[in-house]
Amino acid sequence: MINKGFIFDLDGVIVDTAKFHYIAWKRLANELGINFTEEDNEQLKGVSRMQSLEILLGLEDVQKSESEKLQFAKQKNDWYVDLIGNLTPKDIMPGAEDFINEASKRSIKIALGSASKNALFILNKLKLNHLFDARIDGNQVAKAKPDPEVFLKGAEALGVPKENCLVFEDAQAGIEAAINGGMKCIGLGNTDILAKANLIVSGMDKITVSQALELLDNKK
Ligand code: BG6
Ligand code: MG
Repeated sequence: MINKGFIFDLDGVIVDTAKFHYIAWKRLANELGINFTEEDNEQLKGVSRMQSLEILLGLEDVQKSESEKLQFAKQKNDWYVDLIGNLTPKDIMPGAEDFINEASKRSIKIALGSASKNALFILNKLKLNHLFDARIDGNQVAKAKPDPEVFLKGAEALGVPKENCLVFEDAQAGIEAAINGGMKCIGLGNTDILAKANLIVSGMDKITVSQALELLDNKK
């Protein structure tokens, strides 16, 4: 049997933390007097913490020193970590856990491919850590999505050729990262934003492992 892997983004695919990221960035934006909308927040999805800050400051061309930037990023993260402190398995997005369990039963290897440095903290809160054969997060990558590094490292850690890996992503930057890595991907969410994905569904409860495998096996 061919060695296959599924690589999952975390925020917005397995758990809805996007709202907490937004609340924390919005609070920082307010303190800095920057107008920041939910639409602006879309650009931050999948993007690393420091790069998200650059995008936020860039909205109004605000110039800050490197040490101030580090301080702002830390402040945002402290607020964010407070907000996610109460996550429990009830916060797992519909269908995600069943889907991963079913894939494991069918001998598909499972990796995490997240930009977040809080990924393991979150997986532990959700009690999902044990489901992953490999975990690549923001602490192990130098280049943020849309660079494919996080997914290529995931495939490598699984020992699965990248062309046999399927990525699950909710962010534009993440879909581009999968494409840049030569991998197929399923977009979770908005069809306009994720148009470049090989297949777009509204949530993990709207796709079966068999359908995902069909997409992976379709050599077109
Ligand atoms: C991604 C989120 O998963 O992780 C981004 O979509 C976030 O919004 C990024 O900025 C980095 O997360 P963290 O937890 O390291 O600040
Ligand atoms: Mg995401």
